[in-house]
Amino acid sequence: MITGGAGFIGANFAHYWLAQYPQDRVVVLDALTYAGNMASLAGCLELENFRFVHGDIGDQDLVETLLAEEGLDTVVNFAAESHVDRSIHGPDPFVTTNVVGTHSLLKAAKKVWLDGGGRPHRFHHVSTDEVYGSLTSEEPPFTETSPYAPNSPYSASKAASDHLVRAYHHTYGLEVTTSNCSNNYGPYQFPEKLIPLIILNLLEAKPLPIYGDGLNIRDWLYVEDHCRGIDLVLRKGRVGEVYNIGGNNEWRNIEIVRLVCSLVDERLAASESLRQRFPRSPVCQGHTAESLITFVKDRPGHDRRYAIDAAKSRNELEYAPLESFETGIRKTIDWYLANETWWRAVMNGSYRDWLEKQYA
Ligand code: NAD
Ligand code: DAU
Repeated sequence: MITGGAGFIGANFAHYWLAQYPQDRVVVLDALTYAGNMASLAGCLELENFRFVHGDIGDQDLVETLLAEEGLDTVVNFAAESHVDRSIHGPDPFVTTNVVGTHSLLKAAKKVWLDGGGRPHRFHHVSTDEVYGSLTSEEPPFTETSPYAPNSPYSASKAASDHLVRAYHHTYGLEVTTSNCSNNYGPYQFPEKLIPLIILNLLEAKPLPIYGDGLNIRDWLYVEDHCRGIDLVLRKGRVGEVYNIGGNNEWRNIEIVRLVCSLVDERLAASESLRQRFPRSPVCQGHTAESLITFVKDRPGHDRRYAIDAAKSRNELEYAPLESFETGIRKTIDWYLANETWWRAVMNGSYRDWLEKQYA
């Protein structure tokens, strides 16, 4: 069962999994919040061994029924409220889904897999590097033993869920693993997050908002490498353990935005048909995309730097990212250029309301 499988990483994981293990039965459970999109599962929905269920991880009865009736032995929990800025405006849904929802999922798994006499199972929880807090430029990257120090309502809710997962293992013997990953980018990412927001704003000649001084650092990983990392944890990871997954690829926000600008300029300059499709884009107006960069008010409590030490995953699981940033970012830009129908559909009224509230 892939929870949150209509979201960015969950949908990529569903595609990845069905390509790797075409015989497996896969059930996606997703509440289809603003970030969930059935269109991201095109190609899976038609398969006989795939089932989409519209539902909430907090619905314990539903999860128990699905686990039992479908004979499922693995849960990979992606379902979450995932955007830091939204958690600052309104933390409640973050506690409801990330904490209470994950707890409900754990209760369902325990009931079906343990209380019914015990059967082989795995509960994998997908978490984030943000639970470890913020690094200075001199500090070494986060390891699995770095103390938890979450700074936003989002990261605090993810930290709480990580603790519950750990507790269900130690107290009840539920067979769990957790992975803490750095910033993902790639196809199907909702355009509230930095990279798709920049690509799409740029095509429409809208300002490219950079929080604060633009010098915050993130470690960027192509989403398929994250999926591969989770697969390795499921197959080779030790029960009860936590594995960090990262890209060893630290960038300042302003540098990322400049890179995206130059690559999109390059693509448009080389293609007459793209220029016809995006006539407002800077290249068509005789200037560079960088001219749209706008420094805006900083995110409250904005973590300065995240960086992941993935040595444990490398040594125990033979994990290594396969995609270089150079190729991954080009693939991502090309995906957004080729999938205008997908992104136009998600930029609806509620998305415009969000932009107005956040970037007023
Ligand atoms: P996303 O916001 O794109 O997708 C989340 C999905 O969960 C959506 O499809 C949404 O409909 C669904 N969902 C939300 N509440 C639900 C509920 N109560 N019941 C069922 N489904 C629900 O998020 P994402 O970026 O794909 O992140 C997926 C997971 O990976 C999250 O747990 C996030 O914390 C974690 N993570 C994300 C990143 C990143 O860079 N995006 C990095 C590390 C970890
Ligand atoms: O580190 C993993 C985390 O990465 C995940 O747990 C989260 O779910 C995911 O959303 C992401 O969190 P960030 O806050 O790092 O991602 P976001 O894309 O929102 O922002 C990346 C950086 O860019 C951050 O320093 C804030 C900055 N930013 C973001 C936006 C949306 C801007 O400067 N301007 C913007 O408009």
